Amino acid sequence: MAQIQWYPGHMQKAKREISEKLKVIDIVIELVDARAPYSSKNPMLNDIINNKPRLIVLTKKDMADEIVSKLWLDYYQQHYYVLSVNLKNFNEYQKIIEQCRVILKDKMAKEQARGMKPRAIRAMVLGIPNVGKSTFINKLASRKATVTGNKPGVTKSQQIIRVAKDFELFDTPGVLWPKFEDERIAKNIALIGSIKQDILPLDDLFIYAMQYLTIHYPKLLENRYQLTIDLNDEDWLIKTFDHIAKLRKIKPIRGETDYDRVMQLFFSEINNGTIGPISWEDPLCVKD
Ligand code: G4P
Repeated sequence: MAQIQWYPGHMQKAKREISEKLKVIDIVIELVDARAPYSSKNPMLNDIINNKPRLIVLTKKDMADEIVSKLWLDYYQQHYYVLSVNLKNFNEYQKIIEQCRVILKDKMAKEQARGMKPRAIRAMVLGIPNVGKSTFINKLASRKATVTGNKPGVTKSQQIIRVAKDFELFDTPGVLWPKFEDERIAKNIALIGSIKQDILPLDDLFIYAMQYLTIHYPKLLENRYQLTIDLNDEDWLIKTFDHIAKLRKIKPIRGETDYDRVMQLFFSEINNGTIGPISWEDPLCVKD
């Protein structure tokens, strides 16, 4: 997937575009990745959307650790409406729409009490790259949607689609920049595929991931790679590379283990979830 290199100009543009759309929507659906919900949240969203009603959706729950996801739901529920979903399962889409209806029930009732005609809820999907924004919009669009035509306040380049009798959505998501502020966050969002992994030194990312998995998910390493790492062994890293290369029959280069191939294989299996459900952080990591 093509990822944007974020510069201050890009951020300003994204902010401007979202602020424009905010004027005509009732609710923001903020997608974050359940494997790293804190790291995959845009740092400035509160400032950007102000007091607009918001639903936080933890996507990819099928790829995250269920117990840790429950902690995140409890954590965010203290301040926000929040859900976790697997966007590969279309049945779960209704949960999102239904929750938006619940959040906006009073607002819609008040409008009608003031004599306004019943109308559809209008939502916008936001999030950093790779959290499932296009999946969500495209699946709804291909199964249910009708384009609703010109609407006041909506420019021609943006389209509003009706995905249920009482629910409309912008057909393009708001793409937000990720947090950059610390190394741990950068590593987490690289591991979930929201920034290119090769922006960081790949061997650092590999060491970080292996150490984390050894501490938190040793069983997954054992099951997938028949690998048990002793972090006290000063040669653990070399042994790990050699072990995976041998296991997966990765050809040596001039007699040396092909470290790059091992890392590529490992990161792609991390990305697509074949190693098993992993959460890269829990709510204890939140400092602010
Ligand atoms: P974006 O618009 O926010 O950048 O994200 P996008 O929808 O492109 O989703 C990124 C990848 O994450 C896609 O995989 C998509 O299928 C996958 N995905 C989104 N939500 C979920 C989820 O809840 N569970 C799982 N398991 N995967 C999810 P891809 O490999 O890039 O594309 P595809 O081959 O699956 O279409």
